[in-house]
Amino acid sequence: MSETNLPFDEKFVIIKQISSGEKLKKEIERSLTNPQGFWDEKAEAIDWFKKWDKVLDDSNKPFYKWFKGGILNISYNTLDRHIKTRKDKIAYIWEGEMGEIKTYTYYQLYQEVNKLAKIFKEYGIEKGDRIAVYLPVIPELPITLLAAARVGAIHTVVFSGFSSEALADRINDCEAKILVTADGSFRRGKIVEIKKNADRALETTPSIQKVIVVKRTGHEIEINSNRDIWYKETIEAVEEKTYVPPEPMAATDPLFILYTSGTTGKPKGVQHGIGGYNVWAYWTLKWAFNPTDQDIWWCTADIGWITGHTYNVYAPLSLGITSLLFEGTPDFPAKDRWWAMIERHGVTILYTTPTAVRMFMKFGEEWINKHDLSTLRILGTVGEPINPEAWKWFFKVIGKEKMAIIDTWWQTETGGYMIAPLSGIDLVPLKPGSATYPLPSINAEVYDDRGQPAKTGTKGFLIIKSPWPGMLQTLWKDPERFKQTYFGRWENLYYTGDYAVKDKEGYFWLLGRADEVLKVAGHRLGTVELESALVSHPSVSEAAVMGKEDAVKGEVPVAFIVLRSGYEPSEELRIELIKHVRATIGPIATPDEIIMVNKLPKTRSGKIVRRILRAVLIGSPIGDTSTLEDASAVDEVKATYEKMKKKT
Ligand code: WTA
Repeated sequence: MSETNLPFDEKFVIIKQISSGEKLKKEIERSLTNPQGFWDEKAEAIDWFKKWDKVLDDSNKPFYKWFKGGILNISYNTLDRHIKTRKDKIAYIWEGEMGEIKTYTYYQLYQEVNKLAKIFKEYGIEKGDRIAVYLPVIPELPITLLAAARVGAIHTVVFSGFSSEALADRINDCEAKILVTADGSFRRGKIVEIKKNADRALETTPSIQKVIVVKRTGHEIEINSNRDIWYKETIEAVEEKTYVPPEPMAATDPLFILYTSGTTGKPKGVQHGIGGYNVWAYWTLKWAFNPTDQDIWWCTADIGWITGHTYNVYAPLSLGITSLLFEGTPDFPAKDRWWAMIERHGVTILYTTPTAVRMFMKFGEEWINKHDLSTLRILGTVGEPINPEAWKWFFKVIGKEKMAIIDTWWQTETGGYMIAPLSGIDLVPLKPGSATYPLPSINAEVYDDRGQPAKTGTKGFLIIKSPWPGMLQTLWKDPERFKQTYFGRWENLYYTGDYAVKDKEGYFWLLGRADEVLKVAGHRLGTVELESALVSHPSVSEAAVMGKEDAVKGEVPVAFIVLRSGYEPSEELRIELIKHVRATIGPIATPDEIIMVNKLPKTRSGKIVRRILRAVLIGSPIGDTSTLEDASAVDEVKATYEKMKKKT
């Protein structure tokens, strides 16, 4: 693997809080020398109904069991345990797309969670049953998760931008009994018909017995009286001060399933357990950002993704801090919506994506300068590699060259941060574009393709050599795929699927996916899912999808397709195919370009040569074509793409 031209000569950015890093080094050393002792101590930070017998049971690798024998309930740790000390503290400030504001104190949240838990019980939900959630970011979303956790149910949130087909697939895979959804949601002031999507999904989801519908938009919708129940009326019918005892759960019981894209067409049901995840969520947020009682924490992620699960629900509530939740779009009704919100609510920590940063760079500083952002004290990013330009802009324009940028590398599977600067322990000097060091107890390494540690400064595969409390337990009902996907390449080593470089100071630079997974505006999408969506259209016989660099979104999907005989390339067909992909997966999967060709470059054994398609996209030399079955395919693809680009 070749040397990369990363900006290693980037000067360290010196800001006030930065120290020698000795304290962090010591903490890391301690955690790696005696991981079990380390976690035995750290796990005391949350409440347990019964303490664990064993910190880590690794007798059946890679199915690690953290805090075996421990009994707890995460809804207790996020709610009940705060009631004595911070009953009237605001847990959530919620701002809706249309500007409405609602707040929930810890006590109010606790009360509503108890009521919903009661309803779940009345509908026959038992420990281990699955509850599916298809909601925009409204307070009822975290309330549903906490109520599910309270009664011992496993929640599965389906991002509200996903299609009915994607929703149905996920519900069927985990055989959910209840669906919680809304009449609609708002997007740029317009109603999105999510109940209609849900109804379409429900035609093919026999496991669902009840549908709880939150009234969000208030527009007329169809209600199926045998199945659908309005959330508000049902909650209001429950007696005030209802208390549902939190179900005593084993630390190793599952808490949630979150579907995420992999390298096949079928999304993976990532399963997280309760104890390890709770401990990991608590410590990772504390270590990275060190939020206190005075902070207003704003993680801009949708709760439909892992970032929202961990850092909008379980971590901040476990720490008992105040979070801002936002339903909507960053540039609605104007391009200063976020800055106005920071000023309005006194946000102190802003945690967002590099895509958002690049978008604001494009909008221009005039939108920012209109607002007083002096409450901010620290910034963070997640979801995709941050390019040094965006990092520096964020640092300079928003951070006023005083605030640390906490670039957090992690995955749905890891449950929480894995590589990030840790302002809560000891903030090391930052380099724009590097997430610095692995967290305590994260034994990360970069390997070359032979499974040896890669040379310093050389690109390789990021792997994790030992288990950590927040790691996924398995893939729902698919332990074989779990083993294969994450521990199949190198035995007993967790394969992240990411490229990385470790530089001579031991800093990690995360370079994006090494597999057929895209990060489009920070959203994770499998190219194979897009290809399956395309070939499910009657006009498409073959498809190859890949990522193309994009100045704002990081990358966007581009599709090369071959039409079936009887179909001709046309603008109408292109639009129709885009619509088809949006309907099959959801708007986030919208292909940026669809290139219709007669033939794809293939090897003699019929494998599509993606390397060539990628070269065509970026205009780099094609390289060796001698292994192709028909080299003329290359010229045709190139000519078609160039003609298309000229037109646009
Ligand atoms: C990418 C999101 C570079 C990476 C939390 C990973 C990042 C994938 C970063 C997981 C970062 C996430 N720098 N790349 N700070 N954070 N990634 O499951 O490719 O949606 O494998 O989890 O996002 O995406 P997922």
